[in-house]
Amino acid sequence: MAPYGEKAKQYPGGFIDLSQGTPVDATPKFIQEALNQASNSPSYPLTAGSVQLKEAIKHWAISTLGATGEFDVLPVIGSKEFVALLPTFLQSKRVLYPQIAYPTYLVGALLASAQATAVGSKAADWPKADLAWINSPANPTGQVLSDSQISAVINWGRANNAVIASDECYLSFSDQAKSILALTEGENTGILAVHSLSKRSNMAGYRAAFVIGDKKLIDQIRQIRKHAGLMVPGPIQHAMIAALSDDNHAKEQAHRYTSRRAKLINVLTNAGFTIEYSQAGLYVWCSKNEDCYKTVDWFAQLGILVTPGSFYGSDNFVRIALTAHDQDIDKVVERLAL
Ligand SMILES: Cc1ncc(COP(=O)(O)O)c(C=O)c1O
Repeated sequence: MAPYGEKAKQYPGGFIDLSQGTPVDATPKFIQEALNQASNSPSYPLTAGSVQLKEAIKHWAISTLGATGEFDVLPVIGSKEFVALLPTFLQSKRVLYPQIAYPTYLVGALLASAQATAVGSKAADWPKADLAWINSPANPTGQVLSDSQISAVINWGRANNAVIASDECYLSFSDQAKSILALTEGENTGILAVHSLSKRSNMAGYRAAFVIGDKKLIDQIRQIRKHAGLMVPGPIQHAMIAALSDDNHAKEQAHRYTSRRAKLINVLTNAGFTIEYSQAGLYVWCSKNEDCYKTVDWFAQLGILVTPGSFYGSDNFVRIALTAHDQDIDKVVERLAL
């Protein structure tokens, strides 16, 4: 990517980086204050999470995700570490992950020396495995799985005695996307839903995420994490409780991304791009029907850096992140409209 970055930086009107899904809008003040209040932290934090944090996650899982039945919760140090380590925790032998996907699903399978297979979204066609990842809304495509697609995944998991890990870190940025926990009818055996406050609450720098689901699996994972020192720092746990106590800031953030997405989709469509999925989440997934590096170069000569789809499994699409301030998105719109 370096030569494209260099090229984009030469643009006289200024460089705009839309290549990384890293939030740029501020962490809400009340969350920063909660972190400050908890800064006296001489004791080790609990791997399992404080009683208050566990309660806050459980309450949120029921009220916001629609979780039912028995489930447990576990805070983790950002969801990336959990995605990378889950196959190791479970000693998985065969892992399925989406064909066009966040690369860490594959990396996690490789770390565990598991066999990794990329699959489409139709679970009825999946081969046998002991762990399958789904991601809705998806990175990089912005695809939202329908209820029936997720239910088919749940059925596949039950038929194959496999664990389903549903990466739902972009769920708060969609009105249509549902948590897998809302579709299990209270039978959460083999189900893990992975959530993160990185994007929902602009807390990527805090490293704050959590897992909700099967009690037995969570207990197994918790025991290993205890001995591996994988605990979320106490002040961060405190800030997580504050973040989960409020949904308004997440709605405001969702609104920001919806408006940026609409502006970009409009100008890209007028510029002749094909847009695929891009319904929700943090990215626009689009194509000029050419090799993705050619498209990356085309953006770079306009001072804009985007990510080649080949990073995620597709050679003629690019991923455009919505993580730039509104004034920069407006500049992108001006440049693409010329
Ligand atoms: C699909 C997906 N899952 C997980 C993560 C990890 O996020 P975090 O570690 O900040 O919770 C990302 C980050 O971009 C992502 O795109």
